[in-house]
Amino acid sequence: MADDQTGHEDVLRELNGALAWEMRAEVLYNHYAAYVKGIHRLHLKPYFEGEANESVMHGKAVREQIVKLGGEATRQRDPTEIVHTTDYREMLREAFETETKAADGYKRLLELVDFDPELYDAIEQISFEEQRSIEELSQLID
Ligand SMILES: [Fe+2]
Repeated sequence: MADDQTGHEDVLRELNGALAWEMRAEVLYNHYAAYVKGIHRLHLKPYFEGEANESVMHGKAVREQIVKLGGEATRQRDPTEIVHTTDYREMLREAFETETKAADGYKRLLELVDFDPELYDAIEQISFEEQRSIEELSQLID
């Protein structure tokens, strides 16, 4: 990775980790939107699709910050397995795990980016949205 001249190696590593995780989240949510079965499909298909779109938007925002810092954005999604299932409860649990890990990454980033208010704001906004997703999912899981 061409990070070495920027002086922001740690930030770029975390940003690329977040981007790779968002790309994984996009696939996870679109996969579950396609496979969710039964009466819950009525609600959960659009819900998962909305979360997939949010992951795309987050990935886009993170990628723009990597470019701004002079880094090279990853094109690879995080390799962590996406569990295949048609059981909506398992889907919600996997989504919860995914959002929790995403939120942890953004929390780590917030501690690294106070040198750049615009970057901080961008990460903070994503972090709030991840927090909302976690709260919503924990209600859905009950
Ligand atoms: Fe996200």
